[in-house]
Amino acid sequence: MKVGLIGSGGREHSLCLALKKSKKISKIYCFPGNAGTNSIAENVEIDLNNFEKIKNYILENQIDIILVGPEKPLVDGIVDYLENFNIKVFGPNKISSQLEGSKIFTKNLCKKYNIPTANFGIFENSREAISFFKNCSLPIVVKADGLAAGKGVYICENKEEYLLAVKEIFEGKFGKAKNVLIEEFLKGEEMSFFIISDGQTFKKFGTAQDHKRVLEGDRGKNTGGMGAYSPSRLDNENLNNKILDKIINPTLKGLKDLKVSFKGFLYAGLMIVEGDPYLIEYNVRMGDPECQTILPKLRTDFAEIIEACVNKNLEKINLKWYEHKTLCVVLCSKGYPDEYKNNIKIKNLKNIELNNDEFIFHAGTIEYKDEIFSNGGRVLNIVIKSKDFKSCRDRAIKLLSQIDWKEGFFRKDIGFKVIDK
Ligand code: AMP
Ligand code: GLY
Repeated sequence: MKVGLIGSGGREHSLCLALKKSKKISKIYCFPGNAGTNSIAENVEIDLNNFEKIKNYILENQIDIILVGPEKPLVDGIVDYLENFNIKVFGPNKISSQLEGSKIFTKNLCKKYNIPTANFGIFENSREAISFFKNCSLPIVVKADGLAAGKGVYICENKEEYLLAVKEIFEGKFGKAKNVLIEEFLKGEEMSFFIISDGQTFKKFGTAQDHKRVLEGDRGKNTGGMGAYSPSRLDNENLNNKILDKIINPTLKGLKDLKVSFKGFLYAGLMIVEGDPYLIEYNVRMGDPECQTILPKLRTDFAEIIEACVNKNLEKINLKWYEHKTLCVVLCSKGYPDEYKNNIKIKNLKNIELNNDEFIFHAGTIEYKDEIFSNGGRVLNIVIKSKDFKSCRDRAIKLLSQIDWKEGFFRKDIGFKVIDK
């Protein structure tokens, strides 16, 4: 079976490696991939906005299944487009992808189906949004509606911050804004909860906790993710059942009422408040770097799972997992999430020896004449699978010390809630 993988981050390198382990796979293509996927797949340099070119390549090379990693092509409708040419695609269609593509779509669904979430208001102009402020208690959350690559969310501690957030959103900082979403601030512990679905049945696909802030102690600016660990310390059967009953099942019912079914990974970003789950956001894909911590624990053949999903056979698959803990530390370019330099050589990466429970997933890297260079803010993901979180982190940091790259930085405190108690 030939599989094509769309995307170029650490998530995609980990998906690629999970596919590669399967005897079912004869070849993997990555669109466009990175220096890590380059060693196990064929990287194909095509602009991800050019669906027609991607489709032509898939048909010419007789690729059997396409798996979509990132949200943008999903929200732009790549699944609907490719399926029109009878190409099998693992990923949600355009309407289902609104769960991530429009926060307001999701909030309205929550309201209609009684899904617990932060109280909210939607305002069409800054005058209304500003006048609403007097009814709010602080902090208050202001959000842009569409995709904003992890940005577009302001936690406002005072009126000045609130006014600035509303102004920036309506001025188009995150694309043309028809409205703004104002939300109550929920105080609790976050958890990332994943399911996989073939459009008929779904199965739980693990939990994780990521660290979005750039500085140790979860301070500083938001990033795409500085590290993660799996499972979440909150993961237990009682809470999982509440999440399924109150959040996942009503969401899938809501989509069904819109005559769509959800095929792909669904990632619920939750706030757990006194033992009860509240939906903060949906993503219609695996998390990055959560994916890199979940896939190394999967025992079942990943290619078989994806094949079952595109053939609506997921019910027949028994998902098996290793009991281990995993932890990922992200090595970033100095300056990230603001300005940073690209194209800096990472000298000895190919000489580092890894055990089978150690992984270096490439994120922002590029290969040129057999040498590896940085090519993004988040450059490498060091993942360790072990019996306990502390040894995962200790070993990840030891591995990081072997990487000869002075232009990077990483957080040394990933997993502090489960390690440094
Ligand atoms: P989002 O992009 O919606 O996931 O928001 C980014 C981050 O902002 C989340 O991971 C939370 O840490 C925080 N956040 C978003 N909405 C809320 C909320 N209503 N209450 C508390 N924190 C929030
Ligand atoms: N780790 C956060 C995300 O993938 O959106």
